[in-house]
Amino acid sequence: MWMRRPTRYLVLGTAYAAFAAGAAAQDPLRVASPDGRNEVSVEVREGRLQYGIRRDGRMIIMPSVLGFEFRGAPRLRDSLRIMGSSRSSTDTTWTQPWGEVARVRDHHNELRVSVVEAVMPQRRFGVVFRAFNDGVGFRYEFPAQPAIGEFEIMDELTQFAMANEARTWWIPSNISRLDRSEMLYASSPVSRLDSVQTPLTMESQEGTFIVIHEANLVDYPRMFLAGPREQNRTLRAALAPWKDGVKVRGRAPFQTPWRTIQMASRAEDLVPSLLGLNLNPPNVLPGTEWIKPMKYIGIWWGMHIGTMTWNSGPKHGATTETTKRYIDFAAANGIGGVLVEGWNIGWDGDWIKNGEVFSFTQPYPDYDLKGLATYARSKGVKLIAHNETSGGTVNYEKQMDGAYALYQSLGIDAIKSGYVADTTPEGHSHYSQFMVRHHRRAIETAAKHHIMLDVHEPIHDTGERRTYPNMMSREGARGMEYNAWGGEGGNPPEHETILFFTRLLSGPMDFTPGVFDILIERGTGRPRRPDEPRIRTTLAKQLALYITIYSPLQMAADLPENYEKQPAFQFIRDVKVDWDTTRVLHGKIGDYVLVARKARNSPEWFIGAMTDEEARSFDVPLSFLPAGQSYVAEIYADGPNAHWLTNPLPVTISSRPVNSATRLRIAMAPGGGQAVRIRPAQ
Ligand code: NOJ
Repeated sequence: MWMRRPTRYLVLGTAYAAFAAGAAAQDPLRVASPDGRNEVSVEVREGRLQYGIRRDGRMIIMPSVLGFEFRGAPRLRDSLRIMGSSRSSTDTTWTQPWGEVARVRDHHNELRVSVVEAVMPQRRFGVVFRAFNDGVGFRYEFPAQPAIGEFEIMDELTQFAMANEARTWWIPSNISRLDRSEMLYASSPVSRLDSVQTPLTMESQEGTFIVIHEANLVDYPRMFLAGPREQNRTLRAALAPWKDGVKVRGRAPFQTPWRTIQMASRAEDLVPSLLGLNLNPPNVLPGTEWIKPMKYIGIWWGMHIGTMTWNSGPKHGATTETTKRYIDFAAANGIGGVLVEGWNIGWDGDWIKNGEVFSFTQPYPDYDLKGLATYARSKGVKLIAHNETSGGTVNYEKQMDGAYALYQSLGIDAIKSGYVADTTPEGHSHYSQFMVRHHRRAIETAAKHHIMLDVHEPIHDTGERRTYPNMMSREGARGMEYNAWGGEGGNPPEHETILFFTRLLSGPMDFTPGVFDILIERGTGRPRRPDEPRIRTTLAKQLALYITIYSPLQMAADLPENYEKQPAFQFIRDVKVDWDTTRVLHGKIGDYVLVARKARNSPEWFIGAMTDEEARSFDVPLSFLPAGQSYVAEIYADGPNAHWLTNPLPVTISSRPVNSATRLRIAMAPGGGQAVRIRPAQ
């Protein structure tokens, strides 16, 4: 590992001196990325602090206003002047305990700008800009000062004035029922946006890819983007509220999360997205050897297709007997974990309203928690506890420490939590500062008890996994379950090719791939009616999702009986879940993705390819393999006449010798895909 210490030098007071001397305008302050391509400029115009971003000399973000609206205090936006600035540079490389890549380079130039109100109450604040080769981040800081003590922010006034009519891929944020981000993406010009979630991916008219998101969300609400209203193409930060409409309660000193603008000249270069990780503090856990990515199966899909229930009764899924069967299946197939949903008291009645009822320690009488933990241990398998809170965080927090201690004592070191609710029982937004604080407490408590987290209906990922690597995966988008009951008949074939360039840029997703019973008839024992949802892929594409949709906790979602005697299941047995290297070979948002990943601590490579409803083929040079070494490619391709609608099941499994000079032909059926394991030849 090589490391250069940050350098820092100050030019404090120069701009202030110019102002005091009555100079009409200050030259903008500028900071550029190490490669010089991305440049931020900062200046005060007519009393307002503004920043703009250029890439390769072209405007990406036009001068955009910064500031805040407070309750009980004047707006902090006008009559500002720059007091000073300082600069520093950093170039370090750090290693992730797990991830899409093992090593991450943090190479950036920083500009800190200190600002003061020229009028009373003369509040001071700073804005820190960091320019990286893959984008820009900035955040506000309020130093401790007499003019700002405790405060309530009603609005963050940050703007992102897009320089031209970029094309965007978005999900809305302003519908009354937020649906927790589980929506299909739409695409439209930026000027048409109303209110959208981040990451917001855009392609500018000259072909630059731009992604607005946030990093290091601590003690602050989640950010959305309100669409252009007064000015064309200007997006504005919008924050999720407490019940009373306040967005942020704080006390100086205080800092906001980073606002991030990732930039790339090709869609392929957006992945892996590392900007947000570099803007989070390093790992704070003393040891991470207990944090282990794994594959898992679960008593789960049965509830979604209606063959099992979470609640007690004749179809109760979480029974001792069924769980043992799942543990045996996992042990026999090298699957690390077994998730069990519906094991704990609280599911009876309308469970979505049971936020104050759930017990996180007391099992249903037909579920022998302790006996099963012992049984799982004897088979080398981990039980994964399910904690559905239905948004009742107060009830959950009362039990959290005790429940996590119990799980730890039983050797249960992973939890899938759930927050099915649009507001908390107290009335705060699902994405409010109140909820951000809760999630941070859950991560810290879990870390204390050596527990990994997989959060459903989460707040979007802002890179928490760097600081707390036990924060493994989350949902936060429309996953597999919509194929069981989603109103529109299931996710369309293009869905995952959009997720890859939008939601997945924020972090891993527990999408839960791998359903083999694509028509969902073997599980339910009856053919689906044509109007019922089903999985709109081929079977080979289900395998490809293990590579394309990154998650360190990766599920084999189907019922174990649907994997029996299926040769294609061998791929799920073999596939890895932790990566040393990730290379996007080809990608077009909404059309196709081909990605190659090298497994961590292993010489094996995997390729995942997926397409939308069009058949496509590619010649893929395997030049990423080390020269002079012989490999075998095990190929799971769409079979003859495969088609997501009419003929989804045929998979052709073949193997052939390959090396770094091979060009591999990857042909995909409509709605199809391909999965390839490349292992050293014996
Ligand atoms: C929604 C989650 O996404 C799903 O995985 C889970 O089974 C249910 N909530 C119940 O918690």
